[in-house]
Order: sequence, then structure tokens, then C-alpha cells
Amino acid sequence: MVDFTLTDEQKDLRELAHNFAEKEIRPVAWDYDRDGTWPQEIINKAWEVGLMNVHVDEAYGGPGLDHLSGCLIEEELGWGCSGIGTTLMANGLASAPLMIGGSEETKTKYLGMLTEEPKLASFCLTEPDAGSDVSGMRTTAVRKGDKYVINGSKCFITNGGYADWFTVYAKTDKEAGHRGISAFVVPKDDTVTVDKKEDKLGQRASNTATITFNETEIPAENLLGEENHGFKLAMQTLDFTRPGVAGLAVGIARAAFEFASEYSKERVQFGVPIAMHQAVAFMIADMATKVEAGRLLTWKSAVLLDQGQRNTLVASHAKRFAADSAMEVTVDAVQVYGGYGFIKEYPVEKLMRDAKIMQLYEGTSQIQRLVIAREVLMPRNIDAPEPETTKQDTDVAAAQSEQAPATAEVA
Ligand code: CAA
Repeated sequence: MVDFTLTDEQKDLRELAHNFAEKEIRPVAWDYDRDGTWPQEIINKAWEVGLMNVHVDEAYGGPGLDHLSGCLIEEELGWGCSGIGTTLMANGLASAPLMIGGSEETKTKYLGMLTEEPKLASFCLTEPDAGSDVSGMRTTAVRKGDKYVINGSKCFITNGGYADWFTVYAKTDKEAGHRGISAFVVPKDDTVTVDKKEDKLGQRASNTATITFNETEIPAENLLGEENHGFKLAMQTLDFTRPGVAGLAVGIARAAFEFASEYSKERVQFGVPIAMHQAVAFMIADMATKVEAGRLLTWKSAVLLDQGQRNTLVASHAKRFAADSAMEVTVDAVQVYGGYGFIKEYPVEKLMRDAKIMQLYEGTSQIQRLVIAREVLMPRNIDAPEPETTKQDTDVAAAQSEQAPATAEVA
């Protein structure tokens, strides 16, 4: 049976997130966007009411919410302001590899840090030369006795300037391509530097930084999962988090659709509200369809996870469609507003700028299409045992990555 009815708990969570977005985020969102203000006060309040770290298990102090509930929350936060929403949700991205591959001690220590206080963590995958092509990373982790020593720079790191710990991907075997990457939890210390805060087109209330690890020593037990298995951990993490990102994108599209609908009923041209002109009414209709379809894909990608099924294909459908729809809907919302849409005094140009990153971070829309194409044309049994890496495999992988399609890249 397919049933789209939410449980009472899910409805309550959605209402909580909506009220929070309406009362705490919306009233300041456009000011924060203009000034690039760091939303610490909002982080504190969101943490207090339980809108952060929502997937952390109860054993580590979180509410252990299901993935569908997480998506409901992300849509509301994206509706309020996706920049602030991204700030509030980035702990989920950093935490997911721990929840999948961390030891009991690591989870207790680092997830506990997030649930005991409104602290932040960041996911450090992308590098200047390794965006879409994750296995091109150059950061290294070298085992020395009971420690690993990490060296390298990560860019486009959400909340990087404010994080207390980082999930860091690094090469533990430089010759083995994607089979030479490992993942670690790295606490912030003096060897971890914040080198650059980006000045961005949109989502200006979120912090995006370059983080450098200079001879950073961490205990060997901070390795997540097995050594050289970090690439798959990254991919599994993105399977977990892309539904939420899709939810955020649906929230942006819904906000733009609502603003445009209201405006089209008020703005009079040629003697009638512009909503009465079919040219505008059809744009509004397409916006409504995109919001609805984006939400359905988002929910499906989350429900598969909640059922314990692999969601790689549907997560990419959802992320690709919701992100591209957010871009299209916000561009159309500006069009409905006409010349006013281009003016900062009106709300929709911010949404258009914010929407752009949805097509870039957590895998560009082109990478989602790549995943979809591979999943539908050459489905792989991800759970099959790994073959031994041979020199020939590594050469083939290198040649394939050289032929990979050019895409825009962001972390
Ligand atoms: N789950 C488990 N394993 C997976 C997997 C998945 N979803 N996808 C791939 N794998 C496995 C494959 O089975 C393969 O295993 P073997 O070693 O056994 O062969 C291995 O991983 C390599 O897979 P591919 O051959 O598909 O790897 P690839 O190099 O061609 O890359 C890719 C695939 C889809 C392009 C991947 O690199 C990718 O997703 N790139 C985009 C990265 C990205 O999203 N970055 C965003 C960073 S986060 C962010 O944006 C942060 C923020 O601040 C918001």
C-alpha cells in the first residue's frame, strides 16, 4: 500500500519547524542575507527546540528521528531561509559517517558533543582539485604508531569556520585511487586553520570556509570504518543526506511559488490581476507541479532509507529534480514580479540566488545525472564483496576519471 499520510509525530515536527522558520528565521532572513550575518542566535534556539542533530540516536543524546521526518524539517527550514537551514543541518552531514562507521567510543564522544551543547561539526571532502572527482583528493593521513598525521586543505566547507570537529577524508594509500581513501574524526586544535571565508552569491548566512590540516595528529581510533574504505563511506553518507538537501530545495521552491502566487493576485495589469493572464497562470501552475513532484521524490528517497533499503538512485532523482526545480521556480518567480523581482526590496531575488547552490553542493546536478545513468544502465551490486585492487584496475579507474564529463563542482 502506498500511503502519504504522515504520523501525528511527523505532523507535529513539521509544525514545529514551520513555526520556527516563520517566527525565528523569516523576520531576519533578508537582513542576514544582505549582511552575511552568522546566525548564532538562531543556532542556539534551533538546538534548544530540537531542530538540530535530528538523526543522532537516543543513545548519544539525539532524538533518533527517521529520514522522512528530517526531510519535513528541512523543507520548512528551506522555506524560511535555505542559508540558515544549511547552517542548521550541516551537523547531519558531518555526523552521518560517524553513525555509519564510528566506534562506540567515537560516537559517544563526538555525537555527544553536538547533543550536549549547540556545537557544530563539518564534513571535509572537497578540495580545490577534487570536487566532483572525489578520488582526486591530495590530503594525506599517515599512520605513525597509534596516531594518524593529517596534512592538506579542504575547501567549500559548510560551517568550517565555527566547527568543533571535522569528518575528514584523506588518502591513506596514494596509489590506490578511490580504494586508498579513509575517513577520520578530527577535533579542532591549533594545527587546524581556517584559511578563507567565502563571499557567496547566495545562502549568505551560511559559513563556507577553507580548512587546512597542518601536521594534525589524531588517535588511530578516530578512523571511521576500515582503512581505505572511506570513499564508500562518503558515498553512503551522501545517500543519507541528499534526501534532506532535496527537502531544502523543495522549501526554496515552495517559498518562491507562494510569493509569486500572492503577487500575481495583487498586481494588476491590463485591468486584471496578472494571475488572470494565462501566460502568468501557467507559470504558477508549473511552479506548483514542480514543488509537488520534488516533494514526492524527496519523500520516496527518505522512506527507502527508513525501510532499510538502498536509495542511491532515488536520492539522486530527488536531489537533481528538486534542485533544478528550485532554480527554475525561483527564476520564474522573479519573472512574475517583473522588474520588481530584480530589486532587492522584493523577496524573490534572494531565493533565486539561494537556489543556485542547490544545483552545486552535495553533488552537482550533472553528478546526479551521472549516478542516475549508471544506476539505470549498469546497476551494480554495491553489497558484493570487494575484489582485490590490481594495478590494472587503478590504471582503468585513472583513465575513466580523465574521461569523466566536465561539471561544475562544489562541496
Ligand atoms: N554506496 C556505496 N558504495 C558506492 C556508492 C554508494 N552510493 N556509489 C559508489 N560506490 C562504490 C562503487 O561500488 C565502487 O566500489 P568498488 O571500489 O567496489 O568498485 C566505488 O564506490 C567507486 O564508485 P565509482 O566507480 O562510481 O566512483 P567514481 O570515482 O566514478 O565517482 C561519483 C562516483 C558519483 C562521481 C562520486 O565521486 C560523487 O558522488 N561525486 C560528487 C561528490 C560530491 O557530492 N561532493 C559534495 C561534497 S559534500 C558537500 O557539498 C558539503 C556541503 O557543504 C553541503
